[in-house]
Amino acid sequence: MTQTPERRALLPMTGHTKGNRSAATCHFKCGDACLRHESSTSTSPRFADVARAAVSRRNVLGVGAAALAAGAGSAFSALPAAAGERGRGPARPGRGLAFTPIEPVPNDVDAFTVPAGYAWHTIIRWGDPVVAGAPEFDLDAQSPEAQEQQFGYNNDYLAILPQGRSRALLVANHEYTNENIMYPGFVDEESLTVEQLRTSMAAHGMSVVQLRRDGRDPRWRVQPSEYGRRFTALSTRFALTGPVAGDELVRTSADPQGRTVIGTLNNCAGGTTPWGTVLSGEENFDQYFRGDPLGDPRNRDTYGLVDDEGNPGDGRFWYKVDDRFDVFAEPNEINRFGWIVEVDPHDPDSTPVKHTALGRFKHEGATTSLAEDGRVVVYMGDDTADQHLYKFVSRDRLPGGGGRGGRWGGHRGWPGRDGGWDDRFRRRASALLHEGDLYVARFSAEGDPAEDFDGTGEWIALTKDGDSAVPGMSLEEVLVFTRAAAAAVGATPMDRPEDVERNPVNGRVYVACTNNSGREAPDPANPRPANRWGHVVEITEAGDDAAATTFGWKLVLVCGDPEDESTYFAGYPRELVSPISCPDNVTFDASGALWVSTDGQPGSIGFNDALHHVPVDGEERGHVQQFLAVPVGAETCGPWIDSEDGSVFVNVQHPGEVDGAAVDAPVSLFPYGDTTRTPRPSVVQVHRA
Ligand code: FEO
Ligand code: CA
Ligand code: CA
Repeated sequence: MTQTPERRALLPMTGHTKGNRSAATCHFKCGDACLRHESSTSTSPRFADVARAAVSRRNVLGVGAAALAAGAGSAFSALPAAAGERGRGPARPGRGLAFTPIEPVPNDVDAFTVPAGYAWHTIIRWGDPVVAGAPEFDLDAQSPEAQEQQFGYNNDYLAILPQGRSRALLVANHEYTNENIMYPGFVDEESLTVEQLRTSMAAHGMSVVQLRRDGRDPRWRVQPSEYGRRFTALSTRFALTGPVAGDELVRTSADPQGRTVIGTLNNCAGGTTPWGTVLSGEENFDQYFRGDPLGDPRNRDTYGLVDDEGNPGDGRFWYKVDDRFDVFAEPNEINRFGWIVEVDPHDPDSTPVKHTALGRFKHEGATTSLAEDGRVVVYMGDDTADQHLYKFVSRDRLPGGGGRGGRWGGHRGWPGRDGGWDDRFRRRASALLHEGDLYVARFSAEGDPAEDFDGTGEWIALTKDGDSAVPGMSLEEVLVFTRAAAAAVGATPMDRPEDVERNPVNGRVYVACTNNSGREAPDPANPRPANRWGHVVEITEAGDDAAATTFGWKLVLVCGDPEDESTYFAGYPRELVSPISCPDNVTFDASGALWVSTDGQPGSIGFNDALHHVPVDGEERGHVQQFLAVPVGAETCGPWIDSEDGSVFVNVQHPGEVDGAAVDAPVSLFPYGDTTRTPRPSVVQVHRA
């Protein structure tokens, strides 16, 4: 199909979206992925089907867990309870954060809302200087040269790494760009100048800045320093590590050795390692490439790459700047994106890497934990409907070890809180991600009443001991076309698995399934008919060991309007919880409480996106309470909770991303008090007033 410019201009409004998101969000964020079919061909039962059975079982019984205790035992009866429950491991949680929950904020309110007794301030905004000597932001004089030195657009993952009490490093991902509210006079994407396209490329990637605070003032501010650094899609060189480095699948005319990639794309969520580096997920990478109808079908069939220029996947027109974004001209360039990236913010001269051993898919993020024997475990979600949940287990062990007696065992690798190590240690630790086994999850409805699980599951190896574990695929093929490998072994297609993170206090693993595909009709990928609200799954690894190959699972949240009887909050009374929908990022405070940020509340339950606090142990388990709300059109990203310090940090991503918005017709002016005429994605610190 050939598309005229006239039709192109209408694309963000073509009405293909599935209800939760504005058309603008679908178009700019993921290249209208929901227009295309990327679904798994796995024959495993859809997780939705498994989950639906569990929800209905719970609701029929009228209670949560205890009522499931009747029935026969299973093979999982030997699975121990989580560490925190049985008094071993890190059973002494720190302090949580006391607050009075806010009321949900209607989805047309342009305000950043925090609880009574708290205040907020902006640490850094799109366009603010990052690199020493960077120019100040000028909406009317944007350039790739300036943007490469300034804070990028649409910050998603966030890490605040302390350097003592008065200094810290801030690391942020920049997932994508909203050209319609970035550039005055925007008409359509095809009309963007090469200068604007290159500016957008420079606004992607990641940023590092140093922070400081003075005296007893809780507020962090940017401290110009040698740590200031940008990683961009335009010019930053990344080294490939692991089995695929040098393979013919990643060789290009500009890099015949297949070892060095320019740029990183669509950096969504991430994770901070125990050694103080930051992992970043390359998510919807396909939208930056113009497809080739005669090219490798695996990128079309399983990664959503589109063939003809009438499709929206080439809507960014980056091939006008560089023909490596044209798959016809450079067929392997696309294979160099879709990886987990690692950057070392402590060493401004370090070379960032892409770890091929962790597989290639639309990575939401990557969070680390430690096995009992000290091997590094990385949990990862592939954020597309019907895609899968993964983990990587390193071959070698982190120096110092895991387990109860190890240097890291006391907090299961709670990321980055030790202020980093020396450069040499970090390089050695990073090398643990070069070799290991990659697994994908298969869920079963077989529960274990003795352990109160809704079901059990197994981690199926895709790579094992340096070789492929998938018949008919080489090691390199498994890692480059990981989605196909996962489907081939019968992995469970999930409902858009986003953030996956292990709770440092109770040892259980929490999986946010956003499920915001917004279908009007029931679909096998949704846990409930017409389910647009998502859910959170809680996994207990066998033996409380992150390297286990079996697990038990239960639903902890089945989200939505609490008045909807299909919702479930771990058995907590529905009438007492805050409405929550479309869980996306998860993290924990020092007490082990779960914090959930959302992406899609405006379109699904009519409220601005939010950050929620949810205890997951004790009598308060399941008591969802809303902590903050972001402005109209925005998504809450990258929550970072420092409860012992009394601070919550969030990224306010795509403020004012509403259909029809433009620089001359802004819907939001977040972060306010600014002289610019358009909203600016920013990092916000919430602190006690
Ligand atoms: Fe970029 Fe899965 O959100
Ligand atoms: Ca996300
Ligand atoms: Ca999201």
